Amino acid sequence: MPELHAAAPAKINLVLDVLGRRDDGYHELRTVLQTVSLADHVRLEPGSGPGVSVTGPAAAGTPADATNLAWRAMSALATRCDRDASDIAIHIEKHIPAAAGLGGGASDAATVLRLLQRLWPGTSEQALLDAATAVGSDEAFFLFGGTARAEGRGERVAPLADLPPHDVVLFVPRATLEGKTARLFQELARRPYDDGVASAAFLVAHPRTLHADELHNAFERVAFDAFPGLGTLRAEVEACTGAAVRLAGAGPTLFWIGPPDEGEAIARLARSADCSVYTTQTVGPTWAR
Ligand code: C5P
Repeated sequence: MPELHAAAPAKINLVLDVLGRRDDGYHELRTVLQTVSLADHVRLEPGSGPGVSVTGPAAAGTPADATNLAWRAMSALATRCDRDASDIAIHIEKHIPAAAGLGGGASDAATVLRLLQRLWPGTSEQALLDAATAVGSDEAFFLFGGTARAEGRGERVAPLADLPPHDVVLFVPRATLEGKTARLFQELARRPYDDGVASAAFLVAHPRTLHADELHNAFERVAFDAFPGLGTLRAEVEACTGAAVRLAGAGPTLFWIGPPDEGEAIARLARSADCSVYTTQTVGPTWAR
């Protein structure tokens, strides 16, 4: 029996262009995603299911029932591959805060799919991709991890050359917003969409060294109005680090790229600001390509 557990890393978007609304209601994207070392831990236990348990310091906000994305991914793959998943239990130790723009739920789902591919030999890449896309838009990226371009609604993923490791500090506010991602996409629709220049330029340059002020995220046009206090937090963090911070996905997490040599100032900020601070590094592909 292969080992059925793995780390499920969080992500940030280095660039994110929202190019327009599609006929199916989703939005056309071009984004470059990057996994970071903050990770959940996912374990499958055949013979103990069905069920999903969620433990760990960031368990709050993640459902432990059939609505859990990892659970839905397992059901979607079992259906596609005509397999019986009814005796498999999923255990998720959460370290990635939920609904923060860091893709934790999608990463857990993709990790379950990769672990099931070990358990069910012959499971094709296409079946994994189909199951991932049936569950959500970020899941396909997490089948690979590392640095990757994603297009379409997020399901067309092309791995990119690894970047050298970068330190990334995450600032996660406590603010939440019901139906966040869908709401922020709707807000974007009130303004002109991106012309795609930012992501195209990033892909051509493929910089080896990241500077936050050279990155781009469409959701920054709307997130600072949508999340109360986020603009203040950005100003506090930028005053503390002396450098730009960017939004992760649809937010509300802000990230700063740079050596955490502002350690004392960041620790002070973590105590005073209404947010949690995580010091992470960029990481390469989660799964062999
Ligand atoms: O696919 P996912 O569950 O991550 O997306 C949540 C919601 O965000 C979707 O139901 C949709 O309203 C919106 N969305 C979008 N275009 C995308 C991805 C998500 O409009 N490319």
